[in-house]
Parts: sequence; structure tokens; C-alpha cells
Amino acid sequence: MQKEKFGLKTLNIKRMTFEDLEDVYNIEKLSNPTPWSKTSFSDCLKGFYQNLIVTLDSETVAFCIMTINFTESHLLNISVHPDHRHKGIGEILLETSEKKSINKGVSDIFLEVRESNKNAISFYKKNGYKYVGIRKNYYKNISGREDGLIFTKHLKISKLNSLYNQMTYMITSLLKIRN
Ligand SMILES: CC(C)(COP(=O)(O)OP(=O)(O)OC[C@H]1O[C@@H](n2cnc3c(N)ncnc32)[C@H](O)[C@@H]1OP(=O)(O)O)[C@@H](O)C(=O)NCCC(=O)NCCS
Repeated sequence: MQKEKFGLKTLNIKRMTFEDLEDVYNIEKLSNPTPWSKTSFSDCLKGFYQNLIVTLDSETVAFCIMTINFTESHLLNISVHPDHRHKGIGEILLETSEKKSINKGVSDIFLEVRESNKNAISFYKKNGYKYVGIRKNYYKNISGREDGLIFTKHLKISKLNSLYNQMTYMITSLLKIRN
């Protein structure tokens, strides 16, 4: 899907499949204090989600899950294996996910992040995301619950991509009415 040289290795960004579930789940367990279940990942694969993984040669090192709706994308999860952080992989994956939204005419991405997750907050800020609000007690943690901070980024989309988005929306709506 997207291949580039990454040091001596080849970095590949591709669609997640059921065969990747075990690797993705392992990264999740190492990355999230309250990890998603394997079933949650499996449900994302069955639904209309954008599920991407990054491989370095044959090793799966990161994943990203996003929903893309009419004008908005929601970044649900992005994680890089701890052995491969601070190498720019998260940024490459985030950029690819944003480009996919842009191609579909989506103008805004939003996400929630734990208030305590300072690394991820720096990561999002570095990549142009702006804090817009708070969801009280949104996340579970070991001592109870913590707030989720909402960040958004406005994407620049071309007239052509915007037109594509409107056409897709109209066709989907018509199909829904017919069914
Ligand atoms: C957040 C995460 C995805 C970042 O991935 P990454 O590949 O390590 O990030 P990158 O190397 O692409 O970093 C890009 C920039 O983000 C910022 N950043 C990333 N990690 C950071 C950290 N630990 N501390 C401070 N800034 C950080 C830096 O500005 C960095 O740029 P720099 O290297 O020029 O300083 C990764 O740390 C991760 O998987 N964390 C655990 C899961 C998680 O918290 N996901 C987000 C849930 S909302």
C-alpha cells in the first residue's frame, strides 16, 4: 500500500487483516493501561473502519484505527510498539491516516486522549492538533477514572475531494432510502 525505506529496513503501511490481530493485540497490551480486547479489534475489522498497520520488514510495529464519516474522522487508537517509539513511525502513520481522510473529502479529525498521557499529548500537538475540550471521567484507570482531553485538527481539502465526499454522501443516503 505505502512502502518506503526506513534506515536499513522497509517500512510498509497496509490494511490490517484478521491475520494481524495477534500482533496488534500485543502492541495494544504494551501501550494502553486498559487495553482493548481482541474482540474490539476484530469488530473494527468487520465494520467500516480504517484499520492500518505498519511493518518494518516482516515485523508489525504499529497500528491505527479511525472512523471516517461525512465530514469528520475520529481517531480511535494509535499505538507504536515500545521498542520502536521516537523514531518517527507514529508521525508517518498519522500523516497517512490524515491523507486518507483528505482523499475522502473529510475536513476535520478529532480524538480523545488521557489527561495523564503527556507523551501522546506532545505527539498530537507537534502534529498540529489543538485542544478543544474535555470529557469528564471518560477513561478508566487503576485508581478509578480520569478525564479525556479532546483534540482536533482541521484538514485542507481540495474542491475535488469535497465534491467526492458530497457525491458519496448522496449515493449512500439514496441507497439507505431505497433499502
Ligand atoms: C504516542 C505515540 C503513538 C507516538 O509514536 P512515536 O512513533 O513514538 O512518535 P514519533 O517518533 O513519530 O514522534 C513524533 C513527535 O511526537 C512527539 N513525541 C512523541 N513521543 C513523545 C514523548 N514520549 N515525549 C514527548 N514528545 C513525544 C515529539 O514531538 C516527536 O517529535 P521529535 O521526535 O521530533 O521530538 C507512541 O508514543 C505510543 O504508541 N504511545 C502509547 C499509546 C498511546 O498513548 N497512544 C495514543 C492514545 S490517544
